[in-house]
Amino acid sequence: MDGTLIFSALWVMLPAYIPNNAAVVAGGGLPVDGGRTLNGNRLLGDGKTWRGILLGTLAGVCVAGTLNISAPFVQMIGFNPIRFSLRAAFGLAFGAMCGDLFASFLKRRMGKQRGAPLPGIDQLDFVCGALCVTTILAPGWTFQVFNVALIGVVIIVTPLLHVMTNIVAFVTSLKDEPY
Ligand code: CTP
Ligand code: MG
Repeated sequence: MDGTLIFSALWVMLPAYIPNNAAVVAGGGLPVDGGRTLNGNRLLGDGKTWRGILLGTLAGVCVAGTLNISAPFVQMIGFNPIRFSLRAAFGLAFGAMCGDLFASFLKRRMGKQRGAPLPGIDQLDFVCGALCVTTILAPGWTFQVFNVALIGVVIIVTPLLHVMTNIVAFVTSLKDEPY
């Protein structure tokens, strides 16, 4: 796999990767579903909170801003990194949180309790969410940045990265389960 392509994939997806991790660290409090149930199961569950969404999104937007600031320096070492518009930054970060919410909604409909793993979906829900919301909020930017090759690399690299960060979060007791 082309190293530049992997670098671009990590760079462009970082504002979508960080929100989930920020929500683990900074989330908690009032659940988004307010305790509501559907057919006996929670709508989303206690793992999806307003604070997690808010601070997760904020963290992702801040990461995009930091990447924009560092871009000229990265350019000096030979890469030409992607710049994030505010709409793109928000779309990636908030979209990632929406994908995570949607996955929890699906998990609860399948009768899975909070924290139960759903392989495949757990690793890519936030990528789908980020791509969908960014396409809606910043279509020009999205079509310019994401070609088929980049999306392919993102789909391969993200699950690997996700598994690794979750193991770290589990070992450091930030998460109760390693997924
Ligand atoms: N979190 C949060 N708000 C969010 C997302 C996550 O507060 N919108 C916090 C919660 O404390 C949550 C933890 O981050 O328990 C881990 O997130 P995640 O693995 O997505 O949630 P789970 O608890 O595993 O719940 P689910 O089964 O619904 O995925
Ligand atoms: Mg989970």
